[in-house]
Amino acid sequence: MENAVKAVVVYHSQFGHTEKLANAIAEGAREVEGTTVQVVSVRDASHEDLLEADVIFWGSPNHFGNMSVAMKRFVDGTVVLFAEGKLAGKVGSVFSCSEALHGDQEYALWSLLIPMLQHGMVVVGLDPREPANDKFGYHFGVGASSLGREADERPDTEELAVARAMGRRAASVAKELTRGRERP
Ligand SMILES: Cc1cc2nc3c(=O)[nH]c(=O)nc-3n(C[C@H](O)[C@H](O)[C@H](O)COP(=O)(O)O)c2cc1C
Repeated sequence: MENAVKAVVVYHSQFGHTEKLANAIAEGAREVEGTTVQVVSVRDASHEDLLEADVIFWGSPNHFGNMSVAMKRFVDGTVVLFAEGKLAGKVGSVFSCSEALHGDQEYALWSLLIPMLQHGMVVVGLDPREPANDKFGYHFGVGASSLGREADERPDTEELAVARAMGRRAASVAKELTRGRERP
């Protein structure tokens, strides 16, 4: 029987661009059979959401080369889970949206990644063989830009394709890792 995988996508988004990435990641994750996905704003997200998930995505707008304050508050709150290793072994992946094409986005992605690594999560990056990865694939996360296009084209279709690919990949890895595992 197929093992069920639970994914949660936690995001902060002031103007809606990062939220679109979150939804595209969720779409990709749902393509992996047996995966259920919850997309939740950081304002409503709880530790329970993280504890129940096999794969956690979290993402934020790039604010001066860092995650936003709202996201940081949530991530810092997970220190109580860190103490007991509650997120260790879960699959994780990150995403961020900047205005500029790069705009120091790499740093924002790393600010999101480092806490996952410290939690002992199994961080999944983008597959270099993924064609959509050519433009905004940082390999260590999904990035996008909200600069200079019509509102409905930000992020653009290629960026959203990268986000879907990331969702699909991380959910597939979680499915492999949880194969045969009893859910507590
Ligand atoms: C406080 C603040 C700092 C920002 N810093 C950067 C930056 O360093 N580089 C950049 O390209 N965009 C920066 N931006 C722009 C946002 O990253 C950009 O508008 C992003 O698309 C917003 O995502 P959202 O629509 O999900 O809120 C900044 C915006 C704010 C409010």
